[in-house]
Amino acid sequence: MKIAFFDAKQYDKPCFEEYGEKAGVKFKFFETKLNEDTVKLANGYDGVCVFVNDDVTAPVIDKLCEFGIKFVALRCAGYNNVDLKYACGKLKVFHVPAYSPYAVAEHAMALLLTSVRRIHKAYNRTKDFNFALSGLTGFDLYGKTVGVVGTGKIGKIFINICNGFGMKVLAYDKFPDNSLNCEYVSLERLYGESDIISFHCPLTSETYHILGNDTVHLLKKGVVIINTSRGALIDADVLLEAIKSRIVGAACLDVYEEEEDIFFEDNSGHIMADDTLARLLSMPNVIVTSHQAFLTREALNNIAQTTVDNIVNWVDRSDCTNELCYKERKCNCGN
Ligand code: NAI
Repeated sequence: MKIAFFDAKQYDKPCFEEYGEKAGVKFKFFETKLNEDTVKLANGYDGVCVFVNDDVTAPVIDKLCEFGIKFVALRCAGYNNVDLKYACGKLKVFHVPAYSPYAVAEHAMALLLTSVRRIHKAYNRTKDFNFALSGLTGFDLYGKTVGVVGTGKIGKIFINICNGFGMKVLAYDKFPDNSLNCEYVSLERLYGESDIISFHCPLTSETYHILGNDTVHLLKKGVVIINTSRGALIDADVLLEAIKSRIVGAACLDVYEEEEDIFFEDNSGHIMADDTLARLLSMPNVIVTSHQAFLTREALNNIAQTTVDNIVNWVDRSDCTNELCYKERKCNCGN
């Protein structure tokens, strides 16, 4: 079984080679992302393995089908970059529903603590033998209200972490889980009462710009925004204006609306063309990480193992519980 592996990074290879070898799956690693221009590289392979910023839209799907490719194995949980409706009945699409929800939830809390205790500033200062404390005053998380949008696998763990800090948790989800130690409220109330808001819902047509022009006025002044889910949940230009006008007190972003051609790469020798990102990064109260919330040893192992299992289960038994078309049951393709 030969798989074309797109957007390959050094940290992907050891785990995928190890699990692939055990299962008879051979990966060919391509550094380029999958898109209309690069899809020809997939010709001659049995399947493709892609990540969050690979493009699996209709023209790419058509080409993959033309090459006789039978499946797309996503090595991530989110699948907003795949035209699932179009793929249904043409290709199988697998994903890795959970690899380490702890990795993402813990990263969200790491960003929050860094921001509110000014660790990023203190780190730079003490490296320069500057031991002054002025400007480093933070605030206690204990007793603060945190709003969690999306209480699935990652949101639940984040809620537990916040409970451990003695925070009051408000939550918003289409499908509330009443076993959680939080109060489910409307999005309006969550926006209005939260000192901190953390996004953990998927990016869909419903959640696109869930924080944007229509909702930014609902926010409590000084709120800290955390986004470790998908960039386009937040309208980045609206966020920037809200920071400039002091509505948003701080932002912790592991994802960014236009991250596709920027994140995961070393752009340090280049002029940043994205003015919104450049301005956000210039703010002392904005912390950006480059979609690294998932990046733990445990998660990388789980991602590789589940991706290989998905492929092998489907090839050997035409059975894969992580198949998205099957899971979504939204199409009428009969799969
Ligand atoms: P999940 O599927 O377990 O939970 C998502 C939750 O969002 C569910 O409870 C669902 O009911 C809720 N939801 C769906 N639509 C909603 C809506 N319109 N309004 C409110 N809630 C809604 O997903 P999981 O594993 O917790 O992951 C969440 C997201 O985190 C993923 O979709 C992905 O985009 C992102 N992610 C980011 C990573 C990173 O490295 N930064 C790594 C892994 C996931």
